[in-house]
Amino acid sequence: MTQPIGTTVNPLLKGDKEKTTVTPKTSYRQIRLSKESVVNFLPEQPRDRKQVPKVLASLIGDAVCGSLRWPMVIGGQPGVGKTSAMMALLDRCEPSCKYWTMDEFADLMRQALMGKMESRSGYNVSETDFKVDIIDSQVVVIDDLNDRDRASDHRYRSLKWLLDSRKGFPLIIISNMKMVEVVDRYDAYIASRLRGGNVTWLEGKDMRKDSEPGEVY
Ligand SMILES: Nc1ncnc2c1ncn2[C@@H]1O[C@H](COP(=O)(O)OP(=O)(O)OP(=O)(O)O)[C@@H](O)[C@H]1O
Ligand SMILES: [Mg+2]
Repeated sequence: MTQPIGTTVNPLLKGDKEKTTVTPKTSYRQIRLSKESVVNFLPEQPRDRKQVPKVLASLIGDAVCGSLRWPMVIGGQPGVGKTSAMMALLDRCEPSCKYWTMDEFADLMRQALMGKMESRSGYNVSETDFKVDIIDSQVVVIDDLNDRDRASDHRYRSLKWLLDSRKGFPLIIISNMKMVEVVDRYDAYIASRLRGGNVTWLEGKDMRKDSEPGEVY
C-alpha cells in the first residue's frame, strides 16, 4: 500500500484501525519548552522549579537537549518531589501533553475499549481516536505506577501498548517500585522496555514532612 510521504500506518492499531494514519512529529523526540508557563494539570500541586531535585532537573535538561533515551523512568520513595517536578515540566509543554496516574490511564483505556469514552462536549471518542491522540502528544506522563499485587491483564496490556506506541518519544513513567518489583508485578518484558530508556531512582528526604506541618508519629 502506498502511503503519503510523512505518514505511517500504525501497526499497533489492528483491523479497521489499520487505516488510521499517524504523522509522527519527529521534532517531538526531544521536549521543547515554551517560555511561558501554563498550569495544565493538578493546580493544587506545588511546583517550584528551584525545588526540583538536581538529578531530575538534570534529566529534564537532557530531554530538552534531545540526549535522553525514552522512556524516562523515575523511581523513588514517597515525597521526594517526583509529581511536583513533572508539574513544573508540564506547565511549559504543549497543551497536547498528557498526565495520568496509572489507575486513571487504565480506566480510560477500558472506557475507550468498551466504546464508552466521551469528549468534554459529549461526543463519543473511539478507541482509535483515543490512541492516536496519545501517540500524537508531545509528552505523556504516567504517575504512580505503584502495584502492590500482580497487575491485572488489562493494566498489563495498557502499559505494554503505551510503551510500544511511544517508543523513542517522550514518555515519563513515575513509580515507587524498584525494577525487581516491576518484574514481579508485571514481567520481564515490561521491565526490559523500561530499562531500555533512562532509569533513575531518586534518594532524598520526604518533602511532605517539611511542607505539611503536623504531629509526626
Ligand atoms: N518542586 C517543588 N516545589 C514545591 N514543593 C515541592 C516540590 N517538590 C516537592 N514539594 C513538596 O513536597 C510534597 C511532596 O512532593 P511530590 O508530591 O512531588 O512527591 P512524590 O515524589 O510525587 O511522592 P509520591 O511518590 O508519594 O507521589 C509536595 O506536596 C510539596 O509540598
Ligand atoms: Mg507523586
